[in-house]
Amino acid sequence: MNFELSEEQLAVRDAAREFAHSELLPGVIERDNEARFPTEQIKQMGQLGFMGMMVDPEYNGGGMDTLSYVLAMEELSKIDASASVSMSVNNSLVCWGLEKYGSKEQKEKYLKPLASGEILGAFCLSEPEAGSDATSQKTEAVLDGDHYVLNGTKNWITNGSTASVYLVIAQTDPEKGHKGISVFIVEKGWEGFVVGKKEDKLGIRGSDTHSLMFTDVKVPVENRIGEEGFGFTFAMETLNGGRIGIAAQALGIAAGAYEFSLAYSKERKAFGQPISRHQAIAFKLADMATSIEAARLLVYKAAVLKDQGQDYAHASAMAKLYASQVAMDVTVEAVQVHGGYGYVKEYHVERLMRDAKITQIYEGTSEIQKIVISRGILR
Ligand code: CAA
Repeated sequence: MNFELSEEQLAVRDAAREFAHSELLPGVIERDNEARFPTEQIKQMGQLGFMGMMVDPEYNGGGMDTLSYVLAMEELSKIDASASVSMSVNNSLVCWGLEKYGSKEQKEKYLKPLASGEILGAFCLSEPEAGSDATSQKTEAVLDGDHYVLNGTKNWITNGSTASVYLVIAQTDPEKGHKGISVFIVEKGWEGFVVGKKEDKLGIRGSDTHSLMFTDVKVPVENRIGEEGFGFTFAMETLNGGRIGIAAQALGIAAGAYEFSLAYSKERKAFGQPISRHQAIAFKLADMATSIEAARLLVYKAAVLKDQGQDYAHASAMAKLYASQVAMDVTVEAVQVHGGYGYVKEYHVERLMRDAKITQIYEGTSEIQKIVISRGILR
């Protein structure tokens, strides 16, 4: 075991930290209030190489390891989880899935601009009646000569209106159940593809979450990723890595709330001394720091297992389950440490508390992570 980060990993972490403070922090409260997507910041993140970090340089990526990606996610999420979810979906669900399973032509056409951050991608699995129960896909793609005809609705899609490329999971053979599910690359602007309403959310309000409607959309056969029937495996394998990204986001939200609380507790005085000198607050800080460190170890371990080519499905589920609980617990305590100031927007922690909740829901709820973990244990 080696707990030291490499020079390169430290440089990535520092670059992300600097960017978060100089470019994400100013305006983050306004974007949250107005539910405004961080368009300019996401563009800059692309230019800095944050949108395709693990992709091979041959396809315009950074060629970095998963741990570097986790470090960047952690730093950016300390300040702006709306920007970081956009980055996470682009990196671990869209770019990773395309690089691992896409054809050479698909990578040339789609992966290159996605990895450089020139365009954004979205991952479309959830439906009005298929969230946790992801095998119950109603979206259908029917083969008709050299193309498929796609019909259906997807819900809660991150980068819903800002993406240019969408990986859409759909049934191609309903009789085969989840083994009859396939995955397609769909471009924005194709006839019959409509971006639906934007969701008005509790947290990550700056992120761009929409429903999507497909009515007789013609998808060329060459836009299917892998064979027919490969779509559910594609979704599960992709989500195994995606969950490391969301675990890192949860870790960052918790660590951000902790850092704001630590600084505040040293400045704010009560009963004649900084509140950090009161045991009631000092013990809260100790609990926060300990649980964050435990979450960090789980998240980094899942990333390292992935980089080593070992099985990481259960490690990523454990990391997400635990880190998202820590994000909830720590942010609630951070508001408490700040007292009345914690309840107003200026001090950031109330936003982090609202942002934390989604990490227990998307890319598989905490209950789904327990299914994945328990099946792994009992297998
Ligand atoms: N890794 C690899 N394969 C997996 C897997 C995993 N983590 N979980 C399940 N599978 C495989 C199973 O091995 C099985 O394969 P075989 O049939 O070949 O044996 C197949 O998938 C079906 O699995 P089950 O029989 O266990 O099916 P189930 O219906 O009982 O359970 C589930 C499946 C695990 C609950 C799955 O539906 C699931 O993960 N649901 C959650 C979906 C999810 O995470 N959605 C997130 C939406 S995307 C998002 O949030 C992105 C965003 O915008 C931020």
